[in-house]
Amino acid sequence: MWQPKLLPKLAMLVVLPLLLLCYAAGNVHCSTIHENSEDFHSLLDFKKGITDPTALSNWTSNTHFCRWNGVNCTLTRPYRVTELVLPGKNLAGQISSSLGNLTYLNKLVLTNNSFHGPIPLLNKLLNLKYLSLGSNLLQGEIPDALTNCSNLVKLDLSKNNLTGVIPPRIGFLTKLESFLLYKNSLSGVIPPGLGNITDLSVIALSQNQLNGPIPTEFWRMPNIALLYMPENNLSGGIPQTLFNLSSLRQLSLAYNMLGNTLPSNFGNALPNIQFLYLANNMFEGNIPASLANASGLIDLSLSSNKFTGQIPSIFVNFSVLSTLILEENMLEASDSAGWEFFDALTNCSSLTGLSLAGNNLQGVVPNSVGNLATNLTTLIMSDNHLSGTVPASIGKLNSLIHLALDGNNLTGTIDEWIGKLTNLQRLNLRGNNFKTL
Ligand SMILES: *[C@@H]1O[C@H](CO)[C@@H](O)[C@H](O)[C@H]1NC(C)=O
Ligand SMILES: *[C@@H]1O[C@H](CO)[C@@H](O)[C@H](O)[C@H]1NC(C)=O
Ligand SMILES: *[C@@H]1O[C@H](CO)[C@@H](O)[C@H](O)[C@H]1NC(C)=O
Ligand SMILES: *[C@@H]1O[C@H](CO)[C@@H](O)[C@H](O)[C@H]1NC(C)=O
Ligand SMILES: *[C@@H]1O[C@H](CO)[C@@H](O)[C@H](O)[C@H]1NC(C)=O
Ligand SMILES: *[C@@H]1O[C@H](CO)[C@@H](O)[C@H](O)[C@H]1NC(C)=O
Ligand SMILES: *[C@@H]1O[C@H](CO)[C@@H](O)[C@H](O)[C@H]1NC(C)=O
Ligand SMILES: *[C@@H]1O[C@H](CO)[C@@H](O)[C@H](O)[C@H]1NC(C)=O
Ligand SMILES: *[C@@H]1O[C@H](CO)[C@@H](O)[C@H](O)[C@H]1NC(C)=O
Ligand SMILES: *[C@@H]1O[C@H](CO)[C@@H](O)[C@H](O)[C@H]1NC(C)=O
Ligand SMILES: *[C@@H]1O[C@H](CO)[C@@H](O)[C@H](O)[C@H]1NC(C)=O
Ligand SMILES: *[C@@H]1O[C@H](CO)[C@@H](O)[C@H](O)[C@H]1NC(C)=O
Repeated sequence: MWQPKLLPKLAMLVVLPLLLLCYAAGNVHCSTIHENSEDFHSLLDFKKGITDPTALSNWTSNTHFCRWNGVNCTLTRPYRVTELVLPGKNLAGQISSSLGNLTYLNKLVLTNNSFHGPIPLLNKLLNLKYLSLGSNLLQGEIPDALTNCSNLVKLDLSKNNLTGVIPPRIGFLTKLESFLLYKNSLSGVIPPGLGNITDLSVIALSQNQLNGPIPTEFWRMPNIALLYMPENNLSGGIPQTLFNLSSLRQLSLAYNMLGNTLPSNFGNALPNIQFLYLANNMFEGNIPASLANASGLIDLSLSSNKFTGQIPSIFVNFSVLSTLILEENMLEASDSAGWEFFDALTNCSSLTGLSLAGNNLQGVVPNSVGNLATNLTTLIMSDNHLSGTVPASIGKLNSLIHLALDGNNLTGTIDEWIGKLTNLQRLNLRGNNFKTL
C-alpha cells in the first residue's frame, strides 16, 4: 500500500548505499564520481562496443570507474586507469579504440574472450607493459603503431585470426621479454630485429605461415629460454657454428622446411636444453655427437628428416630423458658398433617412449632390450630390417603399453615373452616371419 510519508525514507534508502560506496572507495574521493574524466568516457566507449556486457554490470556512474570490475587506477589524483584486466569474461564485440586514450594504462588483459575486428590503435600508450589479447577472434594486421609502445614487456596476441606480416619494427620494443603470436595466420618473414632484443626470453610463433630463414640474430639471444616456431614454412638452416645458448631450454622448429646439417657443436651450444623438437623438416647428415653434452634433455624428436649414419652412442648420462623419437630417417645399424647407442639407452632410467621406426636398422634386436627402463611404455621399431629372434629379455619391459615390431624380418616364436607383457594394449607384429603357434 502506497504511503506518502514513506517517500523521504525511501529516498534515504537509495542515497545511503551511494554514500556508503563513496566511503568504501577509500582514498578515491567521492566528488570524482561525476568528474568529467577522459578515462571515464574512454571506458564507457569501450563498454559500448561490447555486445553482452554482463561482466561489466557495475560499470555505472553510481560507482567510481576505478572500482569497476577489472579496472585499477593510480593511487593518487588525478585517478587514471592503470589496469584493465578482464580475461575469460565472455565479452564479445570490438575493442574500442578509445582504450588508446588511457595513457596511464600499464596492463591491458582481455585474453580468452570473443572480441572480433581489428586490434585498436594503441600507439599513445607509452606506459603499457603488458598487452594480452590472446584467445579472441581478432582479425586484420598487427598495427605497426604498436611498435611505438616502447615499454612493452609482454605481448600476447596468440590464438586469434591475425593476418599480414609481423611489423618489421618490432625490434624497437627493446624491453620485450615475452612475445606470443602462435596460432594466427601471419605470413612473411620473421623480423631479424626481434633477435636483437636482449631481454627476450620467450618467443612463440607456432602455427602461422611464416616463411624465409630463422634470422641469424636469433642464435645469439643471451636470455632466450623458449623458442617455439613449429608449423610454419621456415626454410634455410641452423648456423654451422653455434654460439653458446646456455639459457635455451625449449626449442621447437618442427614441421617446417628447414634443412642442411646440424652444427657439429649443437649439443655444446645447448647445455641446458630440455625439449628439442626438430621433426618433419629436411635436416640431413649425422646426428651430432656433441648432443652427448645436452644430457638434461627430456624430449628429443628428430623424426621425419633425412638424418643418416649411425645413431651416436651418446645417451649415457641422460638420466631425465623421457622420449626419444628418431623415426622416419635413414639411420643405420649394421654391426655391433652401429647398435652401441642401444646399450647406452639402457642407462636412461626415465625413458618412457622410444621410436626408431622407419630407419635402416639391421640385424638382431640386442639382448640389452630387456635392460631398457622399467618404465618404458612405448617401444616402436617398425619398418627396419631387423631379423633373427626377439630376445626373451623383452619380457622384462612390464610397463609396455605399445609395442610395434612390424615390417621387419623377425623370426622364431613370441610365446617366451609375450605373456609377460601384461600391460600391453597395442601390439603390432605384422610383416615378419614369426612362427605361428
Ligand atoms: C564490481 O564488480 C567486481 C566483480 O564482480 C567486484 O569485484 C567489485 O568489488 C565491484 N565493485 C564495486 C564497487 O562494487
Ligand atoms: C592497483 O594498482 C595499485 C597501484 O597502481 C597496486 O598497488 C594494486 O596492487 C593494484 N591492485 C590490483 C588488484 O591489481
Ligand atoms: C576461458 O574463459 C572461460 C569463461 O569464459 C573459462 O571457463 C575458461 O576456463 C577460460 N579458459 C582459459 C584457458 O583460461
Ligand atoms: C581520444 O581523445 C581525444 C582527445 O580528448 C578525442 O578527441 C578522441 O575522440 C578520443 N579518441 C577516441 C577513440 O575515443
Ligand atoms: C611512432 O613513433 C615515431 C617516432 O617516435 C613517430 O614518428 C610516429 O609518428 C609514431 N607513430 C604513431 C602511429 O604514433
Ligand atoms: C579467419 O580469417 C579468414 C580470412 O580473413 C577467414 O576466412 C576465416 O574464416 C577466419 N577464421 C575465423 C575462425 O574467424
Ligand atoms: C642486430 O644487432 C647486430 C649487432 O649489434 C647488428 O649488426 C644487426 O644489424 C642488428 N640487426 C637488426 C635487424 O637490427
Ligand atoms: C612454403 O615455402 C615454399 C618455398 O620455400 C613455397 O614453395 C611453398 O608454397 C610454401 N608453402 C606454403 C604452404 O606456404
Ligand atoms: C656456456 O655458457 C654457460 C653459462 O654462461 C657456461 O657455464 C658454459 O661453460 C658455456 N659453455 C661453453 C661450451 O662455452
Ligand atoms: C662436451 O663438452 C666438453 C666441455 O665443453 C668438451 O670438451 C667435449 O668435447 C664435449 N663433448 C662432445 C662429444 O662434443
Ligand atoms: C617410474 O614411474 C613411476 C610412476 O610413474 C615414477 O614414480 C618413477 O619415478 C619412475 N621411475 C623412474 C626411474 O623414472
Ligand atoms: C628374411 O630372413 C630369411 C632367413 O631368416 C631370409 O631367407 C630372407 O631372405 C629374409 N627376407 C628379407 C626380405 O630380408
